[in-house]
Amino acid sequence: MKKVVLRSAVVACVTVAAVTGCYSDKGAGAKMSNGCEPSVVVKPFGKTKDGQLVQQYTLTGAGGVVMDVIDYGGKVVRLYTPDRTGAKTDITLGFNSVSGYETQDPYFGSLIGRYGNRIANGKFMLDGKTYTLPTNNSPGDLPCSLHGGNKGFDAYVWHSEPLSEGKSVGIKFTMTSPDGDQGYPGKLDVTVCYWLSPANVWRIEYEAVTDKATPVNLTQHLYFNFKGEAEGTILDHELTLFADQMTPVTKGLIPTGKIVPVKGTPFDFTTPWQIGARINADNEQLRFGGGYDHNWVLNNRSGKLAPAAALYEKTTGRYMEVWTTEPAIQFYCGNFLTDKVPSKKPGRNLCHRGGLALETQHSPDSPNQPDFPSTILRPGAVYKTVTEYRFGAK
Ligand code: GLA
Repeated sequence: MKKVVLRSAVVACVTVAAVTGCYSDKGAGAKMSNGCEPSVVVKPFGKTKDGQLVQQYTLTGAGGVVMDVIDYGGKVVRLYTPDRTGAKTDITLGFNSVSGYETQDPYFGSLIGRYGNRIANGKFMLDGKTYTLPTNNSPGDLPCSLHGGNKGFDAYVWHSEPLSEGKSVGIKFTMTSPDGDQGYPGKLDVTVCYWLSPANVWRIEYEAVTDKATPVNLTQHLYFNFKGEAEGTILDHELTLFADQMTPVTKGLIPTGKIVPVKGTPFDFTTPWQIGARINADNEQLRFGGGYDHNWVLNNRSGKLAPAAALYEKTTGRYMEVWTTEPAIQFYCGNFLTDKVPSKKPGRNLCHRGGLALETQHSPDSPNQPDFPSTILRPGAVYKTVTEYRFGAK
């Protein structure tokens, strides 16, 4: 295991084992104390099938949250947060090996780009020219391009370096998506920073610049299960969405272009609702999604950081707020997950709706939707968004 030299003298270079009492990889129930010494530790995670070395960073936050992140797709492999008694559990879905991600990845914990979510038919028109993208997904037998195409940003090994500032630790990821990558125009230079603060906030800062106009819609696809990975469904989690409106979809999960109020529907999460409470309602949108797999238009569209969602699980007390500068959020409750997907726990598998994702972003298919906020980045402009996942327990 390699010790990482951090730029700030405040953050000690320690190995995981040397972090007194903060972190021990004993799985669910291990105790986690507050007031940890923040650190970043790097070690090899494995190799891609084409032989690229994949590194794992362990970020230990001063507030006690610990995350294992790999430079392959910027994936969060494990995320340990305290419950209301201080016991920590890994609350995210992932795999223990690179091959797990390469063979059957539902985008677990991944950075998503160049365009998070769907583009209808894999086509869009920009400045009078039609662009064709790979159609790697076809809900309702209607093909679309999903999460950047056949090889999205989740399948790149990113350049990575540790970060520190005051008592926060992090990782800086950079990569260049070449002109024409997956059919998209322009060379796109992307930087994503993950920060873990003493207040147990995981902050993600996205930046990109291009040399030709191109759609950009970056997000993170972490799956949460506050009871723990492979500990049943998320139907009992209580969700709040700070969104009075959503974008209904076709059976291909492509927005119709309408933006409709959620009031009086199973999509109204403006006050906390158990996810399972209305999921079987007689509702065409729920049938199309096989459950919740929709995009909500956030009440905050100022571009300033504001609350987008809150999630609570009452047996553990785990609580999380999602804050973002983005105008929309995809809430996906793991409808495509099955018990064929292996867990990180030996001998165990996941289950249908065993995790949920809250993906901050612009709405799906925006390049084909004139009434949605634009996702087009032009040369000279800088794409900049911020999302925070704030962890706690109550
Ligand atoms: C997104 C989509 C879902 C599904 C998952 C990946 O969240 O909205 O429909 O494709 O990605 O499995």
